[in-house]
Amino acid sequence: MDKIRIVGGNALEGIIPISGAKNAALPLMIASLLSEERLILENVPRLADVALLQRILGNHGVNITTNGKRAGDDPFAGQTLELDARVIVDTTAPYDLVSRMRASFWVLGPLLARIGRARVSLPGGCAIGTRPVDFHLDALRALGADIEIDAGYVVASAPRGLRGGRVVFPKVSVGATHTALMAATLAEGETVLENAAREPEVTDLAECLIKMGAKIEGLDTSTLRITGVSRLRGARHSVQPDRIEAGTYAMATAMVGGDVMLKGARADLLENALDVLRQTGVQIDSSDEGIRVRGTGNGIQPVDVTTAPYPGFPTDLQAQFMALMTRAGGSSRITETIFENRFMHVQELARLGARIHLDGDTATVEGVERLTGAPVMATDLRASVSLVIAGLAAEGETLVQRVYHLDRGFEKLEEKLSRCGAVIERISN
Ligand code: UD1
Repeated sequence: MDKIRIVGGNALEGIIPISGAKNAALPLMIASLLSEERLILENVPRLADVALLQRILGNHGVNITTNGKRAGDDPFAGQTLELDARVIVDTTAPYDLVSRMRASFWVLGPLLARIGRARVSLPGGCAIGTRPVDFHLDALRALGADIEIDAGYVVASAPRGLRGGRVVFPKVSVGATHTALMAATLAEGETVLENAAREPEVTDLAECLIKMGAKIEGLDTSTLRITGVSRLRGARHSVQPDRIEAGTYAMATAMVGGDVMLKGARADLLENALDVLRQTGVQIDSSDEGIRVRGTGNGIQPVDVTTAPYPGFPTDLQAQFMALMTRAGGSSRITETIFENRFMHVQELARLGARIHLDGDTATVEGVERLTGAPVMATDLRASVSLVIAGLAAEGETLVQRVYHLDRGFEKLEEKLSRCGAVIERISN
């Protein structure tokens, strides 16, 4: 298995191109199931999760073509996928595929809306908590679906099609909002989704669905109103830039100091985290080109944060921010409200010399003068990149193992960082 080797201590100077957002690309690819016509997606990141979803959609009968690279192309430019779901040959999403990526469960809504039936494996356990799917199922029931659980599978049917309904989510859920939104586009009549997720990835999906002919109002708010249409057409859509990737590199720069332009990043998608970073002492300027981050890597101010649904501080940046706080000049409290058990990185950060005390959903981080390199283990996507950030600041060598977690969500991570002066390389076994 590949490892990432980092020798810490260098500041970051240069340009980091920000890729298309993984969490937007996945539901957008799944939206192709809603139409008989071709959906063309631009700026799709080259990631293991995208490749796996291509296999899952291929299993349903979606033909996917990817544009190859041409001489002179920017090596960091995203790929264009053409997804053609004219014929759905199989409405089952099997366990061996769904269990490898939770987001693949989201095929349920579109298959049900377009074909009237679907059989999708329950996603199973996950390193960051139990992550149930009850909100997805309740929303589809509110749209008239019959749903049973049989041998680990969700078996859903709506022989006469879905009909509009009112869904009030008990808690903000990005995935359940995607499911209900996609299903409602083809349901008969009006659907109202209340307490819907306002994450920018939901808006990106809604904007693409509107290009496909869907009628959706209330974008960027927690109430979405959808008037169903009988069919959706093809469209062309460019995936929004990855706010989590941008926030991650901003935190890396805050950690080691330097001057980095996060090219293509959108500050408007990341305001809360950028405010928090300013409070830690880094200078942040945004422009049409992207977000520029400047810092010294010293005198990092401690700041308390609590994760919350958008527009709050994103849970997907919690681990990275904790890495930054390990070197702050004082103590900070980090509270995780979205997922239970999303503190797997704490023990690994401790191996690098961090002082973190866990009490329920709150971690108290006591900043230390220096971290020292060590072998560490990646446990999930965001946790593993927090170890990279810590490794960039640690004295000596850090070896991050189980790198496949990073490959799920960070495109060309070592290249992007080493171009800016970090000593980081992949060791393939
Ligand atoms: C998505 C993101 C993930 C991010 C998360 C929260 C993708 C591919 N993943 O995950 O990176 O960390 O949003 O911003 O976009 N819940 C239930 N029942 C349900 C569904 C969710 O109880 O049916 C709970 C979850 O356990 C969790 C909370 O709701 O506590 C939020 O989860 P949700 O927003 O659904 O996360 P995902 O969509 O899976």
